[in-house]
Amino acid sequence: MYRRDDIDRVRAGTNLADLVGAVTTVKRQGRSMVAVCPFHQEKTASLSIDPGRGLYYCFGCQAKGDVFTFVEETQGLSFNEAVEALARNAGITLTVDPGAAKRRGEHDELVAAVRSAVEFFHRRLKSAPDAGPARSYLRGRGYGQELVDQYHLGYSPDEQGWDALVRALRSSGHKDRTMEGAGLARRGRGGKLYDVFRGRLMFPINDLRGDPVGFGARILGEGTPKYINSAESRIYQKGRLLYGLDTARSLIARSGEAIVVEGYTDVIAFHQAGLGNAVATCGTALGEGHFDLLRRFADRIVLAFDADQAGAGAALRGDELETPVRLDLDLRVAEMPAGMDPADLLAAGRMEDLVSAVKGSRPLLQFRIDREAEAHDLSEPEARARAVRKLAPLVARVADDVARTEYIRYLARKLGVEVQTVAAAVGRRPAVAETTTTPPESADRRAQEDLLRVIIENPPELERAEIDPSWVTDEELAVLLPLLQALRAEVPAGTRLPIESVEADDQVRTRLLELAFDRRPLPADMLEPVERVRRRAAGAELATLREQLEAMEPGSEEHSDALRRLIALERMRRGGGGGDEA
Ligand code: UTP
Ligand code: MN
Repeated sequence: MYRRDDIDRVRAGTNLADLVGAVTTVKRQGRSMVAVCPFHQEKTASLSIDPGRGLYYCFGCQAKGDVFTFVEETQGLSFNEAVEALARNAGITLTVDPGAAKRRGEHDELVAAVRSAVEFFHRRLKSAPDAGPARSYLRGRGYGQELVDQYHLGYSPDEQGWDALVRALRSSGHKDRTMEGAGLARRGRGGKLYDVFRGRLMFPINDLRGDPVGFGARILGEGTPKYINSAESRIYQKGRLLYGLDTARSLIARSGEAIVVEGYTDVIAFHQAGLGNAVATCGTALGEGHFDLLRRFADRIVLAFDADQAGAGAALRGDELETPVRLDLDLRVAEMPAGMDPADLLAAGRMEDLVSAVKGSRPLLQFRIDREAEAHDLSEPEARARAVRKLAPLVARVADDVARTEYIRYLARKLGVEVQTVAAAVGRRPAVAETTTTPPESADRRAQEDLLRVIIENPPELERAEIDPSWVTDEELAVLLPLLQALRAEVPAGTRLPIESVEADDQVRTRLLELAFDRRPLPADMLEPVERVRRRAAGAELATLREQLEAMEPGSEEHSDALRRLIALERMRRGGGGGDEA
């Protein structure tokens, strides 16, 4: 009844975690979230949620599905009713409603106008005589042709009449009303329409779907305002936009980590340094809407700010901590060398420093404790007391008992006061770490599970690996391997497999979901599980071969063949020659 892309939009516009959170308690755990399952009686949290893909799975009762089935089953609605309910929630209008089609039409018209503007500015930058200074400005910053194309950078002409863009857009059929609505043009005193952006370097800003919705416009060289950003509009809401997120989202989802920087040029710098998971706010402080957006893909957010800049202040102030703490996000700070922003570092050829700043990021709270400790003269008791008073409330907000206890110790050590003093100031009892035991599982099965999990993640490096079906000996898992390999053939390398679209019987689907929701961490080197299974397979064959060898006549042809094979396998197991030993 509803169009497929409408349904997809509703799916994308719906946060499964919020949906589940409305009926039961949700906690974050690694990349996924867990909840007390609403489909069966339980006290523990067995329902696992993958907010990025909008899927859930219950380890207790095997309930599973997506945002639609969740609403169907918790509210007793039909599929269509569930789509309608969620569309209403997300403010998405479905096309069967004629009024809705009109509103959607307006949205598309605005995007189309911005898209034309992006092309216009881009063309002008590349070839117009009056863009000469813009081109040399870019050259001066080390921005080559490739980069200009990749980010669709542009130049907004500053011609007499101030209407170069208005005229160009009119001639390609855009209405004046649309240009105004998209924040591209404004009406002057006499009612004449003129360009908002003139004589500036244009950074197009896309929404999450990759549609262009606005611009950051930089002055060439010095001057104020340095940047003009698109005005708020139906398609451009700065509180819910992140520059670069449309391209960074898959990397962010895969790594679970997003880097948030201050400016457009900083995003580009990070991408150039090989950190494609960087995004930036567009002329506004990092706020609630941005966290909401990011937590759909990431559970760790690294703020890569110049800590001395005023801009960083907002995100680092205590009151701004509320949102990430509430969302249980791992918020970290990567400190840039004093007075340098990422773009400066890149320009100075110090890419390594960017990478190591992110590697050396500290939890936000630890960062604040460190800074406070540095700011006070801790040789004075009063100063130590002041620092404790200031930081204790922040530590008290850490919900996790174990983590909070660690912070109490850290704060005490850092400030040179007794642990008990800090604990008392924090006002919550230090907790004792719980020990958990997990039932032992066959190491072979575990290794093979990891292999399949890596295949589901489908990282780009997996293309280099050859996976022999005979390695997967576990019967249950062996059924899944060909299914996954077939899926891999359908998506580009580096794209997480869309296992939600697999059509298979319930048992197989369940097992796939179990793997996709496995909370145990995978190694950073995603080829390691492949290697591990390969070695184990070689090891198993070796054991059989050794047994057989015992029963063979030494010196016989059979024996020496087996022996050769044994040596080759040994070598292969040590990680040497690969599979070329035949
Ligand atoms: P910066 O002043 O740090 O600029 O502002 P930048 O991003 O490093 O740019 P370059 O490298 O000097 O060219 C950081 C961000 O703050 C917003 C913009 O989003 C900018 O990217 N900003 C800054 C404004 O919105 N308006 C301004 O006047 C200045
Ligand atoms: Mn900057």
